[in-house]
Amino acid sequence: MPTQTILVTGGAGYIGSHTVLQLLLGGYHVVAVDNFDNSSETAILRVKELAGEFAKNFSFSMLDLRDKCALDKIFSTTRFDAVIHFAGLKAVGESVEKPLLYFDNNLIGTIILFEVMAAHGCKNLVFSSSATVYGWPKEVPCTEEFPLSAANPYGRTKLMIEEICRDVHSADSDWKIILLRYFNPVGAHPSGYIGEDPRGIPNNLMPFVQQVAVGRRPALTVYGNDYKTSDGTGVRDYIHVVDLADGHIAALRKLQDPKIGCEVYNLGTGKGTSVLEMVKAFEQASGKKIPLAMAGRRPGDAAIVYASTDKAERELNWKAKYGIGEMCRDQWNWASKNPYGYSGSKDSSN
Ligand code: NAD
Ligand code: UFG
Repeated sequence: MPTQTILVTGGAGYIGSHTVLQLLLGGYHVVAVDNFDNSSETAILRVKELAGEFAKNFSFSMLDLRDKCALDKIFSTTRFDAVIHFAGLKAVGESVEKPLLYFDNNLIGTIILFEVMAAHGCKNLVFSSSATVYGWPKEVPCTEEFPLSAANPYGRTKLMIEEICRDVHSADSDWKIILLRYFNPVGAHPSGYIGEDPRGIPNNLMPFVQQVAVGRRPALTVYGNDYKTSDGTGVRDYIHVVDLADGHIAALRKLQDPKIGCEVYNLGTGKGTSVLEMVKAFEQASGKKIPLAMAGRRPGDAAIVYASTDKAERELNWKAKYGIGEMCRDQWNWASKNPYGYSGSKDSSN
């Protein structure tokens, strides 16, 4: 197969940077774009270092997806075989406070991307959706056929973009679109050189745990220990970010299938892990004690969410390889080498 050239939006972000690296190592040519709203240029520099000789197949442009002229220029200079679209805002709480920001950034950014892609005849897309579109699932594992709902503006942007994708494909069957519903991405590249570096107070479990381990926060607040789960704490499907990145390569391969239209796949491990089990695995991997503060349930949280992985295994020929031990090992390796993230400095992190 001839070398493919892929545009990655949000390529400096957590999942984007790991995916760019896996693409380069897999022999793809990659152009990444990002506005650094929630990321750092250092991530791009480190991806280049990790890619070694493959870095010659990589270029980066700082731009906002809503800047149609800038995006158009990128497409005018390079012919893309497909786009992987990560760029978006993702903080649930912030989306409740600033819904218009989320609709503007996530929806307008995506619509402009569609328009520019169509204008340049590139109609192959992989989109970052989320298990959040299952809302509060009545049963588990979540299959792709489950009813969809959104619990907050962030989730609504995912649901709306999924609907936009389905409509775009119905209107023009030249479009081939794969919607990937991620469960809970955690961990970091095994080198410890790239990883997740959230701005401000982390919303998600593992970035918070990691900041407690390096002494940036005194204790982990556990949101709820009265769920109907083995130890009362919430259960999620944690997936190693490198497995997730590889899932995108499997999706790109699937886009070659002439029968593909607009198709959706879960990317998870199919295994549920409670908050306390995850903390224990992290303590084992890091040798650090994580002090806990028990608190009430976080509004909007589901008790148990994990994926059915059958469809992705069958049709994408992809399966997660890593377990929570490896996720915690790599998360700690990243955290201990970069306790203050990419900035490296206590003063520029909070
Ligand atoms: P991230 O914030 O690390 O990466 C997103 C990147 O997009 C950031 O680098 C940000 O600067 C960039 N960006 C945002 N708006 C932009 C715009 N208008 N123009 C250009 N760049 C823009 O987040 P992530 O964890 O890597 O998530 C990537 C995608 O996966 C997002 O769409 C997110 O909603 C989705 N997702 C993430 C999770 C998760 O738990 N991390 C779960 C499900 C889905
Ligand atoms: N939790 C704590 N303390 C914390 C943070 C989280 O106890 O400080 C608990 C939560 O209550 C939940 C579990 O840890 O039981 C996981 O919480 P996360 O916030 O890490 O993940 P969620 O499953 O709640 O949500 C994440 C993303 C959503 C996305 C969803 C599915 O934040 O955007 O995964 O992909 F939609």
